[in-house]
Amino acid sequence: MWWPAFLLALPLAHAASIPAAHDHNDESHHVNKRLPKSWSLDADHPAQAMYKRAPGDGTDYPAVGSPTWSAAWPQSSPDVNQLPKQWVDALNDAVAAGKIPNIPQSHNTPGTNPIYPPGVNPNGPEVCSATYKCRIEGDVWDAPDGTFATAFDDGPTPVCTMCSLCLLIAIVLISARLQYTPTLLKFLEDNEETATHFMIGVNILQNPQLFLDTFNSGGDIAVHTWTHPYMTTLSNLEIVAQLGWTAEIIRNSTGGRVPRYWRPPFGDSDVRVRSIALEVFGLETVIWNMETSDWGLATGLTTPEKIHDSFVHWLAGPKSPGMMVLEHETSAQSVAAFMAAYPLIKPAGWKVDSLAALIGDSTYQNSKDGSSPVKFDGILANGADNTPPASLTSASSAPASQANSVPAASQTSQTGTRSQTPSPTTEGQHASQTSNSASSRGAHLLVALCTSALVAAISTVS
Ligand SMILES: *[C@@H]1O[C@H](CO)[C@@H](O)[C@H](O)[C@H]1NC(C)=O
Ligand SMILES: [Zn+2]
Repeated sequence: MWWPAFLLALPLAHAASIPAAHDHNDESHHVNKRLPKSWSLDADHPAQAMYKRAPGDGTDYPAVGSPTWSAAWPQSSPDVNQLPKQWVDALNDAVAAGKIPNIPQSHNTPGTNPIYPPGVNPNGPEVCSATYKCRIEGDVWDAPDGTFATAFDDGPTPVCTMCSLCLLIAIVLISARLQYTPTLLKFLEDNEETATHFMIGVNILQNPQLFLDTFNSGGDIAVHTWTHPYMTTLSNLEIVAQLGWTAEIIRNSTGGRVPRYWRPPFGDSDVRVRSIALEVFGLETVIWNMETSDWGLATGLTTPEKIHDSFVHWLAGPKSPGMMVLEHETSAQSVAAFMAAYPLIKPAGWKVDSLAALIGDSTYQNSKDGSSPVKFDGILANGADNTPPASLTSASSAPASQANSVPAASQTSQTGTRSQTPSPTTEGQHASQTSNSASSRGAHLLVALCTSALVAAISTVS
């Protein structure tokens, strides 16, 4: 019978797509660096002009999830020939000003760590690759002493994001592990916690309602690139595209909030990448100092028990620096690993908060958090509470009520065909190139297939 064979083949197929090496275990806790308290870019920095005005500016923003909204964004890897002129100008200005180090791009084959050309030292100050655990001054690796920084990568993810085959949906449904981001959000809400969500642009595009749910539940939204590439392997313009579109979809879908933090996929950044993030978009780089390898749960690379043991060990360890753990909202198992560890954290004497809330004084560059008003649409010169520069105030300050309201997705349904769309998931998997514009006939066929697969699966099991 074909069905059991399929069941066996699926995990293997999935395993093949996940790179083996993930070289970021760092339990040593020995480096003590802190982000400066105040925001450091000049108010007249070119990034100020990077985005147009926020709601209240007379612009009609399409409802998140509406066809107009969906059509406005790159559907997969962004085309560097189709970038807004301001971004390219800002990059060129930063390069001309000597602010973007001219170092070679790295190269890699899927699943391997990026390698620089011969003679280039990834640990030298001129490159300082995070993949090689070189820490650039100003980048965030640690939480403040005594704190546990809550954050999740790769969302938002709907039902069974890992299935490129509808059959796996059936398996996931049988396990009653229905959704990842929703499970996580419910758990956080029940425990009165918020987290920072480093989101993938195409996942936002494919899961607009989950994006809104995350934002509306008080989650801090941060950038995790558009399609999840190894950033040091990209050209300057490709880096601009990956960061710019993700920052802009977050901005245009949250009532104008410009994200302040980004996390490089696979933790892969260097002086060139982080400079482009900072100089062009005002984005600060956040890595991590603990890794659960929860992305490897699905393939048996690690187990819930191992992760639990790691947490027990870490939580009993020194409180300086604080814990910044790499965790994912990409599978039932990875979310479950966090939920299992959570009850241990506070009793062990750690303060728990959203990563963004712990490391800085504002989540967004122009708004303190999800519920505070957007003050002006640009980079804050000196932290969220400062008055914006006079030249920007009048044109951009929007009434709080307006700035805070995010239109509900008008036509998105998590139970509809959208949830069948495969999307990028783990750190070890490149973002999907799937287009949103799949014909509805194809989608209906998929639903029909999945329904019969589900029926078949249930009757097989029971
Ligand atoms: C984002 O919003 C601005 C208006 O504030 C608009 O000009 C821009 O086109 C929007 N971006 C996309 C991709 O829709
Ligand atoms: Zn990731």
